[in-house]
Amino acid sequence: MTLIKKILLPFFFAAALMPALVLAQQSVKVSAGKEQGVGQKQLKPISNNLFGVFFEDLSYSADGGLYAELIQNRSFEYTPGDNKKWQPLSFWEYTTAGFGYGTISVESAQSIAPVNPHYVLLNIDDPGKEGVGITNSGFDGICLHAGESYNFSVYIRQVSAKPVPVKVELRGGKGISYGQFAFKTQGSGWKKYTGTIKAAQDADSAKLTVLALAKCKIAIDEISLFPEHTFKNEKNGMRADLAQAIADLKPKFMRFPGGCLVHGDGLDNMYRWKNTIGPVELRQQQRNIWNYHQSYGLGFFEYFRFCEDIGAKPLPVVAAAVSCQNSGGTRGTGQKGLPLAEMKSYIRDILDLIEYANGPVTSKWGAKRAAAGHPKPFNLQYIGIGNEDKQTDDFRDRFKMISNEVRVKHPEITIVGTVGPFPSGEDFDLGWAFADKLSVPVVDEHFYQKPGWFLDNNTRYDSYRRTKSKVYIGEYASWGNSLLNALSEAAFMTGLERNGDIVAMASYAPMLANLSHTSWNPNLIYFNNKTLAPTINYYVQQLFSVNQGDLYVPGVVKFELHNTGRDSTLAASCVKDSRTGDIILKIVNAGGKEANAAIDLAGINISGQQAILDLLKGNPADKNTINDPKAVQTVSREITTAGLASYVAPPYSLSVIRLKTK
Ligand code: AHR
Repeated sequence: MTLIKKILLPFFFAAALMPALVLAQQSVKVSAGKEQGVGQKQLKPISNNLFGVFFEDLSYSADGGLYAELIQNRSFEYTPGDNKKWQPLSFWEYTTAGFGYGTISVESAQSIAPVNPHYVLLNIDDPGKEGVGITNSGFDGICLHAGESYNFSVYIRQVSAKPVPVKVELRGGKGISYGQFAFKTQGSGWKKYTGTIKAAQDADSAKLTVLALAKCKIAIDEISLFPEHTFKNEKNGMRADLAQAIADLKPKFMRFPGGCLVHGDGLDNMYRWKNTIGPVELRQQQRNIWNYHQSYGLGFFEYFRFCEDIGAKPLPVVAAAVSCQNSGGTRGTGQKGLPLAEMKSYIRDILDLIEYANGPVTSKWGAKRAAAGHPKPFNLQYIGIGNEDKQTDDFRDRFKMISNEVRVKHPEITIVGTVGPFPSGEDFDLGWAFADKLSVPVVDEHFYQKPGWFLDNNTRYDSYRRTKSKVYIGEYASWGNSLLNALSEAAFMTGLERNGDIVAMASYAPMLANLSHTSWNPNLIYFNNKTLAPTINYYVQQLFSVNQGDLYVPGVVKFELHNTGRDSTLAASCVKDSRTGDIILKIVNAGGKEANAAIDLAGINISGQQAILDLLKGNPADKNTINDPKAVQTVSREITTAGLASYVAPPYSLSVIRLKTK
């Protein structure tokens, strides 16, 4: 008896006995191995960049999130334009505890730079017993870890004649001091002062106080506090735990910095990458479309460096020179195009971005990258133009101008276009027609839908044309963070692997959300200033991402079905990673009953009798929360390959089985 018969016979037998029971797919006959095949299973090359991440500065993902800065409104640039309740002293308080007195004001004459106009002027008449100064409450309190060091810096312009003694202290309630240091100002003009404080205790709601200890007049700006330990200990770096959670996804690429953030709330709010590089105090900050503020401390240099640090290809997105169609809300201005007279310089900015990422250090923008500490190019391969834009002539004209120029000047860069915010409809159809006309290499589809949509759309790409643009699913999520939501995404993702010849890339969205400032749900990872909670959706993303292949193996998993139709709660895929030779199966059971799956390994030269099973399972409504972050997580164990002939997928589960062939 051949191996395939041995494996499938029980199911053929059962099928004969029960006419209503059908096998989901035709079995595949097996013969000896071929170049691009396993037996007669013809392996299909699929994208080896399939699963990545999407980062948007939304829900405090950057400031107050991934960007490790602990001081909020460090340069006194918050305005009511960011948020109606804010002004330059938001999150600061005037500190006069020891009977000191004087005046505090926000000034702008002789600022550090025109792009950083506001600073605090302290005019101290009497420093009292403890000094007079200002205190920052961070992003919902400053989180400290006992024994760890925190790097402080400040710009001060001494206005009065004599040097001023200054004390910097991390404080808790009831007079607790977690650590402090002191220095004296010197001379006139803006000068940067730095120091390190070691935290004496853990804290999650510390404050930072800067006090002048003498009668004086001083100007203060750009007050910063960073944990010394950032991700990979980079300067101006990322919060280590959040960055590690992203790195643990092993994303093949990272799309940034948005989303709606990119095309902005009106033309003046469009994201301009050049404002986000160079010394942080010289970056032109602006309002965040999600109703807060972008310090741009996390700017394009940091994005590129982070991509490199986590081994992800950078996929920056630039606006297609039109603002968001929802600008100003429903009764707002709608989509506006940049005046045509400005297009030349706008396109220049995009070409300069490519030079900033990839140009030699001798080039103008390559030199700026080198000056920031990265002479080596960042190996930019993709650029996204536009995000969910309404398909109008304004959009089309500008997209065409940009893409023509990028293609001519940089044929090595793959352009990613956009086809509106929904998986179908007018913008989607017009977007695809336009992409066809221009032969845009990749288009970005987005869908936020119910779990049932994801289950039903497992086959969405089976019938897509193979001859036109490839697809990047830049944003998708089922509406929720329960196990059932996550499994519906997993089922859909098996379809992406099966269609990995046309689907080039996919990224769940959004990725990060600060629990106290969440503007969008669901998200992949929730966090507060202290800790984080990866959702079950995160574990699904991780299981697919760390188990990617570059070849699709068809016809391996066959479910035993109890009616004649397709059961959309069951889905499976099989890929081969040609680098390791491993065969990786993903079996999704999003239904409430055990599911029998016959795994046809005939012709696959499995070595050894052990396989690794990664299993994610639970109750459909289970969720990971900040108080119970590990309610459902992946459990790994060894299994024997012999049992795979009739694998039982538990109710509400994702099974990932990795088999060795070498
Ligand atoms: O991911 C959240 C938002 O959803 C993105 O900013 C936008 O592109 C989409 O509408």
